[in-house]
Amino acid sequence: MTNGGAGLSRRAFLGAGVAFGGMALLAPSRTGAARAPFDVSAFKPTQEVTLTAGEMELKLLGPEGPATRILAYDGTPFRTLRMPRGTRLKATFVNGIDEGSTLHFHGIRMPNEFDGVPTLTQPLVQPGGRFVHLLPLDDPGTFFFHPHCDETGQAGKGLAGVLIVEDSRDPVFDAEHVLCLKDWRLKEDGSYLPLSEPDGASKAGTFGATRTVNGAASVELKAPAGGHVRLRILNIDSTRIMDIGVEGGEAWLIAVDGHALPPVRLDDLPDGIWRMGPAQRIDLDIRMPADGSPVTVGDYRAADIYQFATLTAAGKVGKSRKGPLALPKAELPKPALKQATRFSFTLQQATDQAVKDIALPPDDPLAKALIDSLCVGSTTYWGIQSESWPTGTRRNLPPPLARMEEGASYVVEIKNETRFPHPVHLHGHAFEVMSSSLGRLPRHFADTVLVQPGEAVETAFVAARGDWVFHCHILEHMETGMMGWFRVV
Ligand code: C2O
Ligand code: CU
Repeated sequence: MTNGGAGLSRRAFLGAGVAFGGMALLAPSRTGAARAPFDVSAFKPTQEVTLTAGEMELKLLGPEGPATRILAYDGTPFRTLRMPRGTRLKATFVNGIDEGSTLHFHGIRMPNEFDGVPTLTQPLVQPGGRFVHLLPLDDPGTFFFHPHCDETGQAGKGLAGVLIVEDSRDPVFDAEHVLCLKDWRLKEDGSYLPLSEPDGASKAGTFGATRTVNGAASVELKAPAGGHVRLRILNIDSTRIMDIGVEGGEAWLIAVDGHALPPVRLDDLPDGIWRMGPAQRIDLDIRMPADGSPVTVGDYRAADIYQFATLTAAGKVGKSRKGPLALPKAELPKPALKQATRFSFTLQQATDQAVKDIALPPDDPLAKALIDSLCVGSTTYWGIQSESWPTGTRRNLPPPLARMEEGASYVVEIKNETRFPHPVHLHGHAFEVMSSSLGRLPRHFADTVLVQPGEAVETAFVAARGDWVFHCHILEHMETGMMGWFRVV
């Protein structure tokens, strides 16, 4: 597929009849099973969906501009599912694109076998293939789903969707809007620039210059004057870290990665913004000015402020409520800090020695098989605790970064020794962000936390059974080594 010099290329050669003699090499060396088989017969779906990945056209360069071939589920850019809390979801993924893929429900606490990580939890889904996920949706909030193979290529071309788990106990807002932020790497004719370049993959990532919200340059939304608007903002970009700020109204952060926190006034946060890396989500409560003046929402990180949404007054609420409208407290396993076992992991630039192209010639079928089956790049730039996910010359999964016990509490410190920020994500859990050495974060639950250069962030969680990956969500970073896994038995 898309191929910058970083060599993140993995075409659908699997369908092309390449011999698979080499595949045995790829089986991760695993001892013991991390999970008791999930009792499928006891799972009674209350909702069923099919999500088919495929190509479609979208005019990303404006209504007059050329169309771009993007990837989407069911022909709907950022397809959005809404389900009530407690739903038992049967989601069938159908791979309608021309290379291997899987579906991962980001942030959902679920049985490990439905997590969608090729090699570790399931085989890669070949073109035309399908995979059934059984998901108990017990945590309300703003989640999303995306492929877990060639993410730079597939998510980079738009393959992602939104999963909103609604909670009937939530306060009633006067309006609600979902905003998916994503940049695109486009040429003027609507085709793609290389989605990854070595200079990006080895540094802050390869940025797109065409910025969009819900596929448009900006959106204008309506809300009654004096009313409360719930904004669900998702950073589904591959690369960009954003500083979300609001002007013109009162704004409170009421949830992070879907999970409620005691509302924090945005103005009370450092610089009056919430810094959000790829894969992170926030819910804001915005109180519209009573006089009908508009509110703007933007990314203030770049020198060129990107104002992606304007809320204009339409009508007026009868009785104005003071804010904030807090969500019910998150009901998540609470780590027992006194008894917790501690781990510390360091995010690193890979050593020079590891930064090498795969030792086999790139057109060797075995080299391709290695890269395709593990869904990785052919170059290593990054590591966690001196280990890299198999890339470059590494052929097998590294040993787990940690072995943990189901139901036990862990405090995991993440230290960033690189010059770049990394949004670090743990699958299958919601962890509590306890502290930041830079003192910039309120305590909150999350599934992804942004760790700044030189910063150490402490997280705590109760371990759930399974093999769970732990990786940077700057997609080029994860695909060039910044990924490891925990085994919980
Ligand atoms: Cu959004 Cu490995 O995940
Ligand atoms: Cu990173």
